Amino acid sequence: MSSPLRRVAAEADERRIVLVTGGAGAIGAAVCTALAEQGRQVVAADLDAARAAAIAEPLGGVGVAMDVADPDSVTRALAEARERIGAMTLLVSCAGWDEMRPFITTDEAFQARVLEINLAGPMRVARGVLPDMIAAGFGRIVLVASDAGRVGSSGEAIYAAAKGGVIALAKSLAREVVRHGITANSVCPGPTDTPLFRGLAAASRDGDRLTQALERAIPMRRLGRPQDVAPAVAFLCSDEAGYVTGQTLSVSGGLTMA
Ligand SMILES: NC(=O)c1ccc[n+]([C@@H]2O[C@H](COP(=O)([O-])OP(=O)(O)OC[C@H]3O[C@@H](n4cnc5c(N)ncnc54)[C@H](O)[C@@H]3O)[C@@H](O)[C@H]2O)c1
Repeated sequence: MSSPLRRVAAEADERRIVLVTGGAGAIGAAVCTALAEQGRQVVAADLDAARAAAIAEPLGGVGVAMDVADPDSVTRALAEARERIGAMTLLVSCAGWDEMRPFITTDEAFQARVLEINLAGPMRVARGVLPDMIAAGFGRIVLVASDAGRVGSSGEAIYAAAKGGVIALAKSLAREVVRHGITANSVCPGPTDTPLFRGLAAASRDGDRLTQALERAIPMRRLGRPQDVAPAVAFLCSDEAGYVTGQTLSVSGGLTMA
């Protein structure tokens, strides 16, 4: 192989592996599939390692156990993924969790849990993979935030604050790492029909009414689906999105418009 061709092959290799945290979840699994279709090799990282493996392995990837709220777990999972598959130059941060609670009833323990999973988690995962991106001179960071972080959400004050922080994190990373060929953006799903959403609706006083009210408020008159969100994430991971950074993209059927 001539040397320019070898360089192209090496570059292609460095752009191959994507870490998807929360890869066993509904949106995470759809993202894994969309990225595999884009030719990426997927590392699905999740609290539920068995389900992460069940999603990633048929796509030619791997599943690893990771608790984004635990720094040691993140370090161990990244080391395992590097050993099994290689350096990760693309990151989709999709792990998330919430419970509907009026802010006045929340306490320090709940607050710490929501912030650890939804805000500190993406920070430590991004910090963990950035050295490989910088070494490669290429990277894509897509943080799955939420429209709650843009416009607020009753009963989700701490989660919304965490997701607002995620949006700001993506913008600040975009500025800091642009010189290394790395982009950072956030994707904000609106209400999306997943186990997380169904759990939140079921725990609220009248979940069916909440769902129907949301469906009426969404200009497209339906909840989102994981398959609506995944293509937006895949675009921001693509080579073609190399001139797009620091952006916040809502995928919410028009519920929020910026
Ligand atoms: N469903 C919605 O309406 C909606 C709206 C806006 C944003 N989001 C965001 O989209 C993302 C995906 O959510 P989803 O709706 O697919 O929910 P989901 O519950 O199907 O998926 C979330 C995944 O994150 C994993 N996870 C939770 N805590 C973790 C931790 N500490 N470490 C590692 N993994 C952890 C879960 O095991 C699960 O697989 C989340 O970040 C969520 O906040 C969802």
